[in-house]
Amino acid sequence: MTNLLRNFAILMVIMSCSANNNSFDITSPDERIKLSIFQDNKNSLHYLISFNNEIILDASNLGIEFTNIPDFKNNLKIVSIKRNSNDYTWEQPWGENRFINDIHNELAILVKDKLNREVIFRIKAFNDGIGFRYEFNKGFDGKSVIENELTSFNIANAKDDSVWWLEAYKKDRYEYRYNQSSLSEVSVSHTPLTYITSNGTHISLHEAALLDYSSYVIRNGGTNNLELELVPAYDGTKSTHYGNFITPWRTIQISDTAKGLIDSSLILNLNEPNKLENTDWIKTGKYMGIWWGMHIGENTWSTGPNLGASTAEAIRYIDFIAENNIDGLLIEGWNIGWDGNWIENGPIFKFNKPQPFFDMDKVSSHAKKMGVSLIMHNETSGHVPNYELQMDDAYDYLEKHGVHHLKTGYVGFSNGYPFNGIEKARPNESGDLVYEWNHGQRMINHYTKSIIESAKRKIALNVHEPIKPTGLRRTYPNMMTREGVRGQEYNAWSDGNDPQHTTILPFTRMLAGPLDFTPGVFDVWFKGEDDSSRIRTTVAKQLALMVVLYSPLQMAADLPRNYLKRMDVFKFIKDLGTDWEKSITLDGKIGDYIVIAREEKHTGSWFIGGITDENQRSYDLDFSFLPEGNFQATIYSDGDNANWEYNPFPVNISGQSVNSNSKITIDMASGGGFAISLIKE
Ligand code: NOJ
Ligand code: CA
Repeated sequence: MTNLLRNFAILMVIMSCSANNNSFDITSPDERIKLSIFQDNKNSLHYLISFNNEIILDASNLGIEFTNIPDFKNNLKIVSIKRNSNDYTWEQPWGENRFINDIHNELAILVKDKLNREVIFRIKAFNDGIGFRYEFNKGFDGKSVIENELTSFNIANAKDDSVWWLEAYKKDRYEYRYNQSSLSEVSVSHTPLTYITSNGTHISLHEAALLDYSSYVIRNGGTNNLELELVPAYDGTKSTHYGNFITPWRTIQISDTAKGLIDSSLILNLNEPNKLENTDWIKTGKYMGIWWGMHIGENTWSTGPNLGASTAEAIRYIDFIAENNIDGLLIEGWNIGWDGNWIENGPIFKFNKPQPFFDMDKVSSHAKKMGVSLIMHNETSGHVPNYELQMDDAYDYLEKHGVHHLKTGYVGFSNGYPFNGIEKARPNESGDLVYEWNHGQRMINHYTKSIIESAKRKIALNVHEPIKPTGLRRTYPNMMTREGVRGQEYNAWSDGNDPQHTTILPFTRMLAGPLDFTPGVFDVWFKGEDDSSRIRTTVAKQLALMVVLYSPLQMAADLPRNYLKRMDVFKFIKDLGTDWEKSITLDGKIGDYIVIAREEKHTGSWFIGGITDENQRSYDLDFSFLPEGNFQATIYSDGDNANWEYNPFPVNISGQSVNSNSKITIDMASGGGFAISLIKE
């Protein structure tokens, strides 16, 4: 669905220029952001970015080195430039916002080297940031093996202790706490990497439209120069191409404020429009799961007395879901392969064969009868070859049973290998087993294949242990949500997430796309007060997270019995929408707090979530963002003396009528938050 609602001026100016005096500027439509591109005495290309006349990226490098063909970096000649501008609005089939404005200026610089090879360096300048990419257009007909992409981000003026980054090349992929430090302490980081300048400008570095290319991490090259580093394949090569190719967009989101980063649509705007013929079948929704019970040790994935995925258990869940205005059920452990240590079972998983205690025909027809959608689970344990061999059968099987949602998983087993060998049994040319990073080109291509093949069967994806999002949900809206984070599950079996973790995620990981964090747990002391396995939030904050942490498939992760005990609080989850006309970040400070309001599509109801870190704070909520009319507000806030550490359970529930003139002050407890539903009167 690529509804072109308005199509304003499209302006195209073609200019030719000589090889000398080669400096060109492009500004954002509001002229606040300016990128200048110029050449040095070796005739290589560099760029520089300013925002409100503050230089935010000093002269930074461009170019590519290859292992098997000459580099494209020096002795470059700018042959011509083309300018273009766009101002139009497109509609999303689902998302945080129904309509997205794409307003940008574009500059395409055609560059030639001594061998007459041609590359277009394309830049798009939006009011919320810059994207640029290389298009290898002529003279790259054969095999090109990239050794290095030389792109760098020469950071000017980063404020002390104001870079949020996630260390790369670690065993558990993106599943770590964010570091907050000064720029000099950054070693090697995943993106998005977010920082603040001493003038208070908020910037985030990432990439968009990551397809058939290795993803990049950021390596500190010293003296404020952050270097783009492509994640290598097992043999050290970075990215291999046959024929012409383009790189993903290198993105720099820029805003005066922290909340401005969240409301940016840069990443989506840099992706290609929807390629699926029909998207009506792609449904957002709330889901519960045969899931948390496994993580807290009450149930098992493997067969045994506490098996989670039995036919009877699935039916019990389906009935609860149907009664309580939830949409879907996630079922893990339903298929063959979970017995023993599932982390090592990559080669033996079967994706079209249920285990003996699970009757897929019965469960799927009961779900259909009750109007509940199933989210079936495929855990690969990182064994990509086994999964790729069965992919057609796996997706055909789901299609046959009327299943439209699939959760995939790629927990990797490192088996002593220093890397997390995500693709653990891939034979190389000599037949030896080799291990790949999760983030290299081969895995990118695997994930893309899964998106395309599942779409053919009308199956939408929730990927765990994924590659970071880069906005592909625009092109393939069946790529709905993903993990790629230290999610709720860590609270079940590790030392857990600290209260500030979820106040960092919206400004970092989530700038890239939706997050399957799996919030909504009421029994935050599931192993008792003194156990270190616990959730470090209040219950009110668990509700708030369901609004703040956007996911088109939003989990209510707790067990039915815990919801049954708090039906008054559960009402918020029953009422909550999952598809939005509009989202507004009302306020926020990275690592401290955030408040987001969302208007539900079609109903005009609003939902607000606010969360704080370990510090209690009161928030003055101004409802001036509301449209005309009165709304019945139900406010779920931290109860008396609530705090995450000693007293997480009390939730105050109060009601009042509000309109756009209303203002209220809400207290958030330490590790707390609030959630509000606003139903039109
Ligand atoms: C890790 C996933 O994040 C989790 O959701 C899942 O339950 C387990 N792997 C088992 O597949
Ligand atoms: Ca995980």
